[in-house]
Amino acid sequence: MFSNELVNKFQSLETPFYYYNVALLKETLEACQAASSKYNFHVHYALKANFDERVLQTIRSYNIGADCVSGGEVKKAIEIGFGKEKVVFAGVGKSDAEINYALDQDIFCFNVESIQELEVINDLAAKKGKTARVALRINPNVNAYTHKYITTGLEENKFGINQWEFDKVVAALRNLSNLKCLGLHFHIGSQITDLNVFKSLCIKVNEIVKWFVDRHVEISVINVGGGLGVDYYHPDTKSVVDFETYFKIFDSFLERSANQEVHFELGRALVANCGSLISRVLYVKNGQVTNFAILDAGMTELMRPALYQAYHKIENISKTSGEKTKNYDVVGPICESTDCFAKAVELPETQRGDLIAIRTAGAYGEVMASNYNLRDKVRVVYGE
Ligand code: LLP
Repeated sequence: MFSNELVNKFQSLETPFYYYNVALLKETLEACQAASSKYNFHVHYALKANFDERVLQTIRSYNIGADCVSGGEVKKAIEIGFGKEKVVFAGVGKSDAEINYALDQDIFCFNVESIQELEVINDLAAKKGKTARVALRINPNVNAYTHKYITTGLEENKFGINQWEFDKVVAALRNLSNLKCLGLHFHIGSQITDLNVFKSLCIKVNEIVKWFVDRHVEISVINVGGGLGVDYYHPDTKSVVDFETYFKIFDSFLERSANQEVHFELGRALVANCGSLISRVLYVKNGQVTNFAILDAGMTELMRPALYQAYHKIENISKTSGEKTKNYDVVGPICESTDCFAKAVELPETQRGDLIAIRTAGAYGEVMASNYNLRDKVRVVYGE
């Protein structure tokens, strides 16, 4: 929801831009902290969802850890001031240079995705005379029931160590003396809205933790990843993210002893709702079959609809509700037919110059922007 005052302010600004509502981001972070701290859970923010400087500064000020998937993200997290002892580094293809950098920084933990990677980190740590802290990223073969492009915890996915390799991993850990295994890591997918999935995950995690503990592998950290989904259909309701229910599921179903910490890596749930992509209508084409509202933002600014057929609520914020409506295919200016935000969207009759808000775009929006068609870098505006 945008006040008239805000829309008037937007009128004078060059579009397109991401608008981040910092007050809403803070509210979300507070809700997350209130719900997670009840159980002493440790939350890391997945930088990949949004690494805008101001957004990161805000998140860091809540004393949250950082979940990184590249050397660049590790560097950014440390520069922003996330404590090194709270930085975790995941990713199926860490380069030697990235591993060396993270070793030099003494980050908290590498989430390791294969036996070969364990060997490489061990060798690189040995060369530095260091011991690397690692957690084993396990592929638990649990269905996240989300879009197939953002499912990561099935056998067919490239991520993590599969169950049939567990014996080999235990043997490898015994020989790799420059590693200290802290525990296990899981992440089964993103935009998970059926919270029963997390219950299934807990049950599987319990089994796997027990298997390793029975073989005398110390498990002091159980990292269950991220994936908590948001309600893209109702961006203005308070319950866009249900942190209370989410953390309670883990408290109820995840077996853990007093010396085991539970870690989370949330991205989308923390930042999606605070962001909107604000754009102007350049042209309206009224066709016989369909009408097009052609925006000055496209898939280069927000790729999710083109890539995953993702839904984002679209609003004409220059018009008041109650006006006569029409259906529009809302498209961008890029030379690709998939450059379409949504088809047959009911909007108040729309004109050149109207402002369009594409909601819930704070996660995996700006970070996935590209300069295809030699487009300018998308601008950012903050609201307090
Ligand atoms: N941890 C790991 C190891 C991950 O791979 C991810 C996301 C997260 C945590 C954070 O997940 P979240 O809480 O945000 O669901 N670009 C896609 C989403 C890709 C997610 C990749 N991994 C999208 O726009 O929907």
